[in-house]
Amino acid sequence: MAAVRARDLSVYYNGRVALRDVTFELGNSETLLLLGPNGAGKTTLLRTIAGFHREYSGELLVFEKPPHEARDLVSYVPQSHSLNESVPLTALEVVAMGALYKRGILHRKIPEDVRKSAFRALEFVGLEDVADKLFRNLSGGQKQRVLLARALISDPKLLLLDEPLSALDPSARAEVASVLREIKVKRSIAMVITTHDINPLLEIGDEIMLINRRMIAFGKPDEALTDEIIKSVYGPMARAIKVEDKLYCITGDFHLHLHGGRRR
Ligand SMILES: Nc1ncnc2c1ncn2[C@@H]1O[C@H](COP(=O)(O)OP(=O)(O)OP(=O)(O)O)[C@@H](O)[C@H]1O
Ligand SMILES: [Mg+2]
Repeated sequence: MAAVRARDLSVYYNGRVALRDVTFELGNSETLLLLGPNGAGKTTLLRTIAGFHREYSGELLVFEKPPHEARDLVSYVPQSHSLNESVPLTALEVVAMGALYKRGILHRKIPEDVRKSAFRALEFVGLEDVADKLFRNLSGGQKQRVLLARALISDPKLLLLDEPLSALDPSARAEVASVLREIKVKRSIAMVITTHDINPLLEIGDEIMLINRRMIAFGKPDEALTDEIIKSVYGPMARAIKVEDKLYCITGDFHLHLHGGRRR
């Protein structure tokens, strides 16, 4: 059973097409890296897979169901977190919210079993030491890891992450990328991750998709990141250069760095 299956998918806002020609399949426990310039439709595609946006044509199945019927199997972490930081929640409480929402319980007193699983989820992302600290006082990288723990507490089979590395400094990026690697290795779940900086994530990407209001390419990293494809998305100045067995993609904004021949 595929985690996601899309055929001739087009997504609209008020009747106007935002993204078209999307056809792909993502297997269980595979990771898809979704690339494209600003406005390409990355967030649109993630929200449609998450079942939040329902104006689309073509076929889209998540674990063989329409996306809105598969929501219990999916966790979605939005592009920039929408937590109201004026409410003084601790890291542990933020993580627990991920379980309480699904149970339909309003946050008041956290049941003991949820507290335990929230703590375990924080341990998984290496943040048990800050469990009782206020979320709003954490660093950007720590906040993103808390949000990953919150997404994991409901034991999803598909994790949708919208730019989990954006707005982080290089060392925080490396920390979050390493947690994503752990998720990939230790939990057998599928992931779709949008990113502008593919370099820290490349080793966990089983599949790459490039979009720019339509699907430009989908495939294994070496197939999807060719010179021609990169140019068609990022313009004539963009290039893919092969040096020995490594491919470097220069797009103006950022550099894609692809290890040749690697399949881990
Ligand atoms: N709620 C909305 N109503 C109407 N149009 C929208 C809405 N959300 C997005 N769009 C349009 O859909 C297109 C794709 O937007 P989307 O946010 O999916 O791009 P993106 O690839 O995530 O960009 P970014 O890299 O800036 O996050 C854009 O033209 C955008 O203006
Ligand atoms: Mg976006």
